[in-house]
Amino acid sequence: MKRTIIITGGAGFIGSHVVRLFVNKYPEYNIINLDKLTYAGNLENLKDIEDKPNYSFVRMDICDFQSIFELMKEKNVDGIIHLAAESHVDRSIKDPFTFAQTNVMGTLSLLQAAKIYWESLPEKYDGKLFYHISTDEVYGALNMTHPEGIKPPFTTTASSQTHHLAYGEKFFTEDLKYQPHSPYSASKASSDHFVRAFHDTYGMPTIVTNCSNNYGPYQFPEKLIPLFINNIRNRKPLPVYGKGENVRDWLYVEDHARAIDTIFHKGTVADTYNIGGFNEWKNIDIIKVVINTVDRLLGRKEGEDMDLITYVTDRAGHDLRYAIDSTKLQRELGWEPSLQFEEGIEKTVQWYLDHQEWMDRVTSGDYAKYYDEMYKNR
Ligand code: NAD
Ligand code: DAU
Repeated sequence: MKRTIIITGGAGFIGSHVVRLFVNKYPEYNIINLDKLTYAGNLENLKDIEDKPNYSFVRMDICDFQSIFELMKEKNVDGIIHLAAESHVDRSIKDPFTFAQTNVMGTLSLLQAAKIYWESLPEKYDGKLFYHISTDEVYGALNMTHPEGIKPPFTTTASSQTHHLAYGEKFFTEDLKYQPHSPYSASKASSDHFVRAFHDTYGMPTIVTNCSNNYGPYQFPEKLIPLFINNIRNRKPLPVYGKGENVRDWLYVEDHARAIDTIFHKGTVADTYNIGGFNEWKNIDIIKVVINTVDRLLGRKEGEDMDLITYVTDRAGHDLRYAIDSTKLQRELGWEPSLQFEEGIEKTVQWYLDHQEWMDRVTSGDYAKYYDEMYKNR
């Protein structure tokens, strides 16, 4: 079936993997990457697909309701996969207004443009979908009742990974009430509520998914894993917040993109799906794995960079533990994480070491010039 889909935030970390997957897998679809290109947007993430006939890029702000409406009308858009957001918790602590503007008002502008356009069509909402990508952080934080870790009560094909522990018996399930703590998660929670309100009030077909921490290629090096890989390579200190005891649940980014593909095509309208790989790690443990992996792949003695670990003041309001229960998605739609964590982290470290030029252009700011160079004659 021919479809025209806007993917917002397609120049960011997860968005670029989603755009790549859809452009390559569905040549019959028209994929429009709509992105404002903030500091986190990098078109160099999509060099390999930018000339494909079913791909186009539009530089636009999701807060610009009128332009989005015109674009939807001009291109006859029938699907939106919405990833554009301000995504870094530390930035939200310093500048909450930007997060409310982009994540709340931007999502509302997109919803309103889609509503007015789709309701103007003879078939109205038939065959349409607004798919909103959210985060597990909206559920707040879980307790750590088993500081040494227990065997979790779940199995996945990737569950043979050697480290497979849960740090409490409770998990984030889809029916939990929202309890966001950071300005970032509060803004994402608010946007999730608006998406559901547009279904309940106007009948717009919507889906919301809440995913755990992603890792993999093309992540902006303000986030833990790429920041630390780059610092280890350059023998710079590794700022570990607090005691490094906080727990995050890590999923390889391509597995998230595959889940989005599955849910976009097979998910139930008005439903919510949690996405995660049952892969909890204490920060300090994952940091040690990253140090050992970087050292080994650079031909250094494994562990020789452990002394780069530097404990620093904790993040304000730092959520203790995130852990996603994704059994609903596995049971109902048959999605499973494909990679064992050991495999995923090895691939990720190798990718960053092999793409030093990408990292250098991001850290120097040169990547921001790519849009002007590439698109000036188009
Ligand atoms: P990112 O920060 O890497 O990318 C965000 C993208 O959105 C960038 O390309 C940026 O230019 C674009 N953008 C920002 N403001 C915009 C605006 N006003 N208009 C248009 N484009 C704008 O983010 P990410 O880590 O790839 O996250 C993508 C989505 O997934 C976000 O909604 C985030 O909340 C969610 N999420 C992320 C994770 C994670 O671990 N990274 C986990 C779960 C959910
Ligand atoms: O859970 C999903 C969320 O994961 C997404 O919604 C967010 O967009 C994404 O940024 C991520 O949020 P986190 O705050 O968990 O990711 P971050 O990489 O910033 O931090 C991971 C953990 O590492 C967290 O406990 C804080 C800690 N940390 C982070 C940095 C950047 C450090 O100890 N030192 C650091 O320098």
